Amino acid sequence: MTSTSHLDPEALAALDLSDQHRISFLAEDRWIDYHYPRARKALLELERLLASPKRTRMPSLLIHGVSNIGKSMIIQKFLRDHPHKEFNPETGMLQIDVLAVEMPAAPTERRFYGQLLLALNAPYRPGDRLAAVEFTSLTLLRQVSPKIIVVDEVHNLLAGSAREQRASLNLLKFLSNQVPCSIVALGTRDALAAVQTDPQISSRFRGLELPRWQENDDLRGFLAGFERQLPLRHASGISDNPAIVSLIMSVTSGVTGDITELLSRAAEAAIRTKRERITAELLEATVGRVSLRA
Ligand SMILES: Nc1ncnc2c1ncn2[C@@H]1O[C@H](COP(=O)(O)OP(=O)(O)O)[C@@H](O)[C@H]1O
Ligand SMILES: [Mg+2]
Repeated sequence: MTSTSHLDPEALAALDLSDQHRISFLAEDRWIDYHYPRARKALLELERLLASPKRTRMPSLLIHGVSNIGKSMIIQKFLRDHPHKEFNPETGMLQIDVLAVEMPAAPTERRFYGQLLLALNAPYRPGDRLAAVEFTSLTLLRQVSPKIIVVDEVHNLLAGSAREQRASLNLLKFLSNQVPCSIVALGTRDALAAVQTDPQISSRFRGLELPRWQENDDLRGFLAGFERQLPLRHASGISDNPAIVSLIMSVTSGVTGDITELLSRAAEAAIRTKRERITAELLEATVGRVSLRA
């Protein structure tokens, strides 16, 4: 008999799949919510911004942390929580509360407006002149009137020349004033440095760091939550096993994406070897085969 009380319903259902399908299931992104207090804090801040009334100086937020720590996942979750798009009969347009774009590599004002137009499902030809793209974007944005514009990968601002960097930062401020809306920027420490170069910009952006995991109850909660979503027939008890928790911390440096990658690969090995649980030994063997970014 296999006890299955160690699994969440979705993982439990996946136990009926073939080994190959269970392994594919592992590759899907999953959202661990209830044991991830820092994400909850970020989501609360986002909710607060969404609820704040339109005014002249809209508050903005910079969520920063190392690559792979979970910044984009938080925004994806926020967007899932607010799929709401309403048809506004006055403008004949969709009312979108949260508009999300990515700061392109090698950003220019034109490319940035291009991303906004794409997010609005508006036509954009890369050859269009800046003045035209800017005019169309602002006109549409005022009609759609998003409460929040999310700009992911904002550290790409730094990839440009000093002049381009200043222009992009001013553009964020300009957008926030003109729409008006809150800006939520996501990026690495470099993004924080970029924002801090301009006192006018930095005074508007509240910083929120997503730090690396420490070996504490938050981490154990996250690991326990993650284990409940791995379709293995036996409980591994990862979070209660100090040797496993220490090993995870030492090879991943507390970076969320590396932790989930390592555990998913270990779970895959647990399926292939028919052990159906993650042990310290299996994890050690997996570490040797996975290249982590940390
Ligand atoms: N709350 C979470 N629950 C489960 N996995 C997560 C969570 N946050 C991050 N991850 C894992 O970490 C990976 C990297 O997250 P991502 O948001 O892309 O990082 P960033 O945008 O900071 O580079 C994701 O693909 C996912 O596997
Ligand atoms: Mg990201």
